[in-house]
Amino acid sequence: MSEGRPLLVSGNWKMNENHFESLKLVQELAALLRAGGLPPGREASVHPPFTSLRSVQVALESDHVPLALGAQDCHPADKGPFTGAVSAEMLAKLGVRLVIAGHSERRTLCGETDEQVRAKLDAIWRHGMTPICCVGETLEERRAGEHLAKVRSQVAAALGGRRGEQVASAVIAYEPIWAIGSGETASPDDAQEMCAAIRVAVGELAGAGAAAAVRVQYGGSATPDNAAELLACPDLDGLLVGGASLDAARFAAILRAGAR
Ligand code: 13P
Repeated sequence: MSEGRPLLVSGNWKMNENHFESLKLVQELAALLRAGGLPPGREASVHPPFTSLRSVQVALESDHVPLALGAQDCHPADKGPFTGAVSAEMLAKLGVRLVIAGHSERRTLCGETDEQVRAKLDAIWRHGMTPICCVGETLEERRAGEHLAKVRSQVAAALGGRRGEQVASAVIAYEPIWAIGSGETASPDDAQEMCAAIRVAVGELAGAGAAAAVRVQYGGSATPDNAAELLACPDLDGLLVGGASLDAARFAAILRAGAR
């Protein structure tokens, strides 16, 4: 955690929880957060599937739960003949504040390119929301010593040629693909090294102000057991949590991990 940047812990529910189950999960979280709320200097978001957004939004608002509503993806266009897609404009109308773009599962399973990810960021910003732009290397790339180059090129493709203030408002999630859902977490040293390198890359692209302000999350098998150590890394400004965010008690524990 580093000066001035509030930590952001986000729960990416992926394709889990129908809207009844989502409501139950958010009500459990609300109950756990009722006593004490979030620690100072921390923000949090939940990213349910599209079908649950409306029910979760109503539950968060009516109970004043200190969790921002997030989505997992969007289409770059505002409307049009894109069967099955959901636009950033539609998400903004539902009260969504943060949208994940370029998750490695979408890059790998849906063939999403750097260009498409960039266009999604444009759409998310166009509608006044905050992008969480995911970057990360495969195990083969890490073994070949190409992890830094891979992540730098993804950051440049998403954020190059943009105004410093815009870049400053982004969240970048460093998610090494080998750590996602594998139970194998990056060591705090490795996570810190990569988050610091991402900050350096942002500085080269958009200036020192953007580098100091941009928030860099880590994602990949984050749990209540490793969260405090990861959150203590100076260049790591939060976590993007998959599996452990589907259990209210575990996610609440991560939200409070290491807080004084
Ligand atoms: P896990 O926490 O399940 O490894 O998932 C990480 C992730 O992909 C979050 O976006």
